Order: sequence, then structure tokens, then C-alpha cells
Amino acid sequence: MPKQVLITGGAGFIGSNFVRHWCQRHTGRVVVLDILGYAGNRANVADLEDQARFRLVKGDICDRALVDELLTTEQIDTVIHFAAESHVDRSILGPAAFVQTNVVGTFTLLEAFRDRWQTQGKPHHYRFLHISTDEVYGSLSADDPAFTETTPYAPNSPYSASKASSDHLARAYFHTYGMPTLITNCSNNYGPYQFPEKLIPLMCLNIMLGKPLPVYGDGQNVRDWLHVSDHCTAIEQVLHQAEPGDVYNIGGNNQVKNIDIVYQLCELMGEMAPANGIELPKTPRELITFIADRPGHDRRYAMDISKIKRDLGWSPVYNFTDGLRQTVAWYLTHRDWWQPLLSAEYQGYYKNLYGDR
Ligand code: NAD
Ligand code: TYD
Repeated sequence: MPKQVLITGGAGFIGSNFVRHWCQRHTGRVVVLDILGYAGNRANVADLEDQARFRLVKGDICDRALVDELLTTEQIDTVIHFAAESHVDRSILGPAAFVQTNVVGTFTLLEAFRDRWQTQGKPHHYRFLHISTDEVYGSLSADDPAFTETTPYAPNSPYSASKASSDHLARAYFHTYGMPTLITNCSNNYGPYQFPEKLIPLMCLNIMLGKPLPVYGDGQNVRDWLHVSDHCTAIEQVLHQAEPGDVYNIGGNNQVKNIDIVYQLCELMGEMAPANGIELPKTPRELITFIADRPGHDRRYAMDISKIKRDLGWSPVYNFTDGLRQTVAWYLTHRDWWQPLLSAEYQGYYKNLYGDR
């Protein structure tokens, strides 16, 4: 029997990539619950809206009555929970929204799902997959081994602390109630439809607009980058193959310094913009601007993905150079997608945060 899925945050970056991936490979009902806030964009799933089995509901995961109604009327057996406040810089400016959505929202979903799962007689095929991040493990120094699933949690930002809290709740619902929760912790994603406040799309847009490329601190911070399509295949495999209560790390085996990504983007843009009929206002490298470091900035993340490789046979397939090239091409050719996002609110946000940059 096909799964009947509720995908929270399915109009955001990873959520919308996953919904598309899922709809191409599975039959069955697909309901997206998304508040359609600044990062949730109807356009991200517009191509799916003509499918009868697809439904986009604008709403808040903290709204228990709405979640109950969707679980019941849509006969949901699987929740894939992406919805979150997701940007570290915003969590430094305003942590309350992160506690509300990431902690209270996850708790609301877990409670609603527990109710439905129990009322239905605890069916074996029900699943609640909680999507999380490598940031819950804290910061590594240059020589530390990569994070494993048993690395103690040590979150350093309000964002990662709120995600860590929600991971603990998802874990506790398995251990306390036997509810079939699964948790995945993934490294930094990149690819199409990422909101241009995150490193890679922000740099792409600023190069096109001739604006400064703000690099925090010395630019030597390391992230483990994974193409969003690889994240989608990992989530799909976890959903199909993992046992209730399982936790899996997901990553790209691809550690890169921030400044090296910025250099690569400058080069790719310089080469690819003219080929797409776009004249860059300034030489990209001249736009690089080192700015004061992010407070509490984690130095390095790296994921040990041996468990998911061994248990589920998953590995990333994208090579970073090709993935970055594909992503740059997407932003070069999707001005109609990103131009409306450069709204007064978005501009105002950056002005408050960094001044005129
Ligand atoms: P995103 O900000 O692009 O998307 C989040 C989505 O959640 C948006 O569509 C937003 O409208 C929605 N949302 C926010 N608050 C909501 C609420 N109260 N009710 C309903 N919907 C709400 O983020 P993303 O990068 O796609 O991240 C998705 C998930 O993956 C998050 O849980 C994040 O912690 C996790 N994650 C992200 C990365 C990454 O590199 N982006 C890496 C690992 C894990
Ligand atoms: P980001 O995309 O915000 O992801 P995260 O903080 O969740 O890893 O940032 C990735 C890295 O890039 C991080 O080390 C911060 C850095 N960064 C900059 O140097 N400048 C920027 O303008 C942004 C958005 C990020």
C-alpha cells in the first residue's frame, strides 16, 4: 500500500526538493503543511499543484487542531518533518521564533501523531521522520574525527540548540511510547531553490548584483557540503529501510573552507554568466569582503557516514564541482524565482544585520 505522507516545511528549500523527488517515485497522497513564511515559497512546488494527489496547506505546525485534522482527514501514516526556522544568523538576532517552531512545533507534531498512531492501534507501518542537522554536535577542530551518531550533543547557536531539543523529543517518543520515530542529521545542503540568505545562493546573487561578498572572520571555517538531491535519496532510503528508533548521519564526505567556496563561485560565475547572456557589474573576486565573525561561529563540521553506508547502502553521488556548476547555472537562469525575494523585508533584514553590504 502506498504511503500517505504529510511533509512539513515542504515549500522550503530541502522540503520542496524532497516533495518533487518523492512525487516522481511514489504514488499515494502527499500533503504539504507549510506556513509559507519568508523561506516557504508556493513557487517552489508550483509544478506539483496540478496533481490530484498533491495538496499544499498553508498553516503552522504549532496549530494542534489543524495538524489533528490533517492527520485524520488525509489518513496520514507517515510524517516527514522538515519545517523549521533554519538560519543561524536569524537565530542570533531573534531566538524566540526558533524555540517556538523548532521545539514547540516539533512537540505539537509528535503529540498529534502519537494520538493518531495510538487511536489506530499502533500500526507497524507508521513512521515519523524528523529531519535534523549536524550542527547539534557542536564544533570540531582541524584534527578531530568526524561526528558519529554517538557523538555527544553540544549545540552552540540558538538554531542548533533548538534542533537538538527537538531531536531529544523525537528520540524520547520512541523510547517512552514506542512511537516509530526516525532521526536524520545532515550536513550543509546546497542546490536549487535555496533561499538566498545561505552562503552559496547569497554569493551567487551578490555576484550578479555587483554587491559585496561578506565572508565571516578569516573564511577558514569548514562545512561538509552535500547536494540536496543526495539528501533526498538518503531520506527516502531511511524511510523505507530503517528500523523505528534509528538515527542516521548523512553527509557528503566533502569538507570545504568557506573562502574556497567563494573563490570557486567567483570563477564559475565569471565563466558562466556571459555564456548565459548576463553581464556581471564587477569582477567577482574584487567583491570579497571579510567582515566581523559570526558570534559563536562553529569552526568545522564533518560527518562520519559509515553507518548509513553500511546499513542502508546509501552514498552521495554528486561530485562537488559538478553540483556547484549545476547550482550556479540554476541561479543564473532563475531570476524570475529569486528577484521577488529581494523584497523590502529581505533588504531590511540584511541592513539591520550587517549594515549596507
Ligand atoms: P528552509 O528555511 O528553506 O525551509 C523551512 C520551511 O519550513 C519553510 O518552507 C518555512 O516556511 C517552513 N516553516 C517554518 N516555520 C513553520 C511553521 N511554524 N509551520 C509550518 N511551516 C514552517 O530550510 P531548509 O534548509 O529547507 O531546512 C529544512 C530542514 O532541514 C530543517 O529542519 C533544517 O533544520 C534541516 N537541515 C537543513 C540543512 C541545510 O543545509 N539547509 C542541513 C541539515 C538539516
Ligand atoms: P550558512 O549557509 O549560514 O550555513 P550554516 O551556518 O548553517 O553552516 O553558512 C555556511 C558557512 O558560511 C558558515 O560558516 C557561515 C559562512 N557565511 C559567511 O561567511 N558569509 C555569509 O554571508 C553567510 C550567509 C555564511
